[in-house]
Order: sequence, then structure tokens, then C-alpha cells
Amino acid sequence: MKLIWMSDLHFEAEGLVLGHNPRLRLQAAVDFIAEHHSDAAGCLITGDLVETGSVQNYQALKGFLDGLPMPVLPMTGNHDDRAVLRAVLPLPGTAMPDFIQYRTDFGDLSIMCLDTLNPGAAAGALCAERMGWLKAELGALNGRPAIVAMHHPPMTLGLPMLDPDNLQNGAALLTLLAEHPNVLHLLAGHVHRPCSGTARSVPFTTAKSVLYQAPAPRPEWDWSSFLPAAEAPALTVLDYSADGLTLQQCQFCDHGLDVPAA
Ligand SMILES: [Fe+2]
Repeated sequence: MKLIWMSDLHFEAEGLVLGHNPRLRLQAAVDFIAEHHSDAAGCLITGDLVETGSVQNYQALKGFLDGLPMPVLPMTGNHDDRAVLRAVLPLPGTAMPDFIQYRTDFGDLSIMCLDTLNPGAAAGALCAERMGWLKAELGALNGRPAIVAMHHPPMTLGLPMLDPDNLQNGAALLTLLAEHPNVLHLLAGHVHRPCSGTARSVPFTTAKSVLYQAPAPRPEWDWSSFLPAAEAPALTVLDYSADGLTLQQCQFCDHGLDVPAA
């Protein structure tokens, strides 16, 4: 069973974001998926769907995502607007009434899509209601496998400019997940860098952005000197079988797609 994972589209209906064209890059991703992975059962998008949370942006985004030949599983990031997202993009019927948080099952594999948005803050948070929902859903699985997906990583990654804005109560989430060895993998966005490892024994991966990449931590950089890295965007293909889970990062366009030649 195959799933597609994209993150941090930072879509805008018009104009550029940090020098990149969100429409060209998303269309390249959609075209790549339609040509090479139309057999995927779903497409997870771990937040920052838009750069600014306007109705116009979400409606234009929906027009692009409607080109995907599989259901989309959207999540919130710190750039998203929960109410506008819900008004424009279809959500599974299992979604919590006040949050973009839900479980979707593909055969025996459950995907827990978490809502880590803390409105007005770059950093994320999971309130008691959302944590309680996750605890109950994980308990209901009775050991059947799950993937947990969200925008804000709940662990530090050795990224000095980015780690302070991760999930503020990440330790509590990791404690809960570590109690459930049936959690095969944790997927997170937000940092626009590909990292993987384990946190409290939970395997995790963070995604490149579909739009622009954060530089590696060395050479050192800070926000006053920040420029996106000259790296191509990527999406991730997940393959799940009885033997386990594979994540394969795939480049879908060149870095130069929307960058004028020097
Ligand atoms: Fe982002």
C-alpha cells in the first residue's frame, strides 16, 4: 500500500514566496505524482498548506490539489487558518469538530493526522483535548500499526534556528507514543529539512518543503541572513507492507524550475 507525503506548500494564489513560485512547484509535484504514483491510496500534507490563510488562497490551492488522483489528507501548520481550511478543503468524517485532527485507515494501517496549530505562534502545541483524542485512538487500535503525522516536530533536531519553534509539549507526545510500539513512524514538517532518527525509540522523519528549503545548520546562519538553500524540493513516497514501512524521498523538479539563471 502506497501513500504520498508532501509538506510545507506555502501556497499563494499570486506572487512569489522567498523568491519561489508556489504554483509552479506544486503543479510540478502534482504532475509527478499523477505520472508516477497514481496508484497511491492517499496524499498526506503535513501543514503550511498556504503562506497566508485567506479563502482565496485555499480555494486556489484546492484547484491544484483536485488534480491529484487520490484523496488528500490535509493538516494544519502555523501558517494555516483552521476555520478557512475546514471551510474549503474536504476532511474525513472522523475529524474532531474543533480541530483538523483525524484518523484514516488504509487496510490494517491507521494514519493519525494531528493538528499542532497554536494560533498566533510559530511554535506548535497539542492541548489536553487533542492529546486525549490521540490517546483514545491509539488505545482503540489494540496493537494494530499506525503512522502519526503532524506539522511541528516534537523533538529537537540540532537546528538552532528552527528547534525553538517545534512542538512545545513534544516531550508529552513522545512519552505517549513510546507507550505504543505499534506506532511505526512519526512524520513531521515545519523545518523544511530532511532529518530522520529515533526519539524515545519512535522512528521519525521530517520532510523537505515542496516550495523552499531551510539551509543546513552549518555554515551557521540566523534569521537576519536567512535565504532558502539552493536545494531542489522533494516529496516522499511511503510503501507499507507486512514486512514494514519504506520512506523514499523523491525530487520532482529541479531547483532551477523558478529561479532565474545567474
Ligand atoms: Fe513551513
